[in-house]
Amino acid sequence: MAKQKIGIFDSGIGGTSIWREIHELLPFEDTIYLADSINAPYGVRSKQEIIELSRKNTIKLLELGAKIIVVACNTATTNAIDELRNEFDVPFIGIEPAIKPAALNSKTKTIGILATKGTLSSSLFTKTSELYTQGLNVVEVEGNGLVELIEDGKINSEEMDSLLNTLLLPFKENPIDYLVLGCSHYPYLIPKLKEKFSPDLSIIDSGEAVARQTKAILEKKHLLNTNFSQNGTCIFYTNYNPSVLKKIINPENKKFQVKQLDF
Ligand code: SIN
Repeated sequence: MAKQKIGIFDSGIGGTSIWREIHELLPFEDTIYLADSINAPYGVRSKQEIIELSRKNTIKLLELGAKIIVVACNTATTNAIDELRNEFDVPFIGIEPAIKPAALNSKTKTIGILATKGTLSSSLFTKTSELYTQGLNVVEVEGNGLVELIEDGKINSEEMDSLLNTLLLPFKENPIDYLVLGCSHYPYLIPKLKEKFSPDLSIIDSGEAVARQTKAILEKKHLLNTNFSQNGTCIFYTNYNPSVLKKIINPENKKFQVKQLDF
């Protein structure tokens, strides 16, 4: 099979926030998305488990015809991308918390990072954070429980409100002016986060940067699709109940299909 699609995987539905940016920037590309929701969340798993799950997803995406793989999961990127690059002969794009722009632009010199335990405890995250946050106060919060509620379709629920009220307290007690979202599920919480903080708080995620990087690597490797006659197809595979994924992806668009698959 010709390797002609952009393959994207995440521990679940959160990486669709990255897919959206990629599809907007590269509408003519075919994309295939794997939602490994049955194994979500990755953020509480050991590094070895995250590597194994990431390998499994990569193998499936290659079987399905991926020419490049976007690891649309911060936890998988920070724990497994080096191993994936060593093992597979295909370009990988990862996603890391956007610490650099927050650190460079913060006026209060206090920034917040909301991410999973797996991301915050990874050596890649620690290295990046040390590189850019010298002299800054960095308030790190583990978003325990958020991925589970998002995967259950409970973004706008009382449970979500009460969990956020508790989790966000350290950010309220410190004068952060930038909040970095270090998990691809969290952009779906931006409207809620905006309600809970002053409008002066800047909330940043890495979706746009990942899309730009994907385009740059496809160009560099001469892998960009040059047929601009029609928009690409987007197929979403999930190994769990597809109903929440269907709600997030516009099923009215005939080019977007959601399918169940064992992987
Ligand atoms: C998770 O599976 O725990 C979250 C995914 C991410 O880190 O982006």
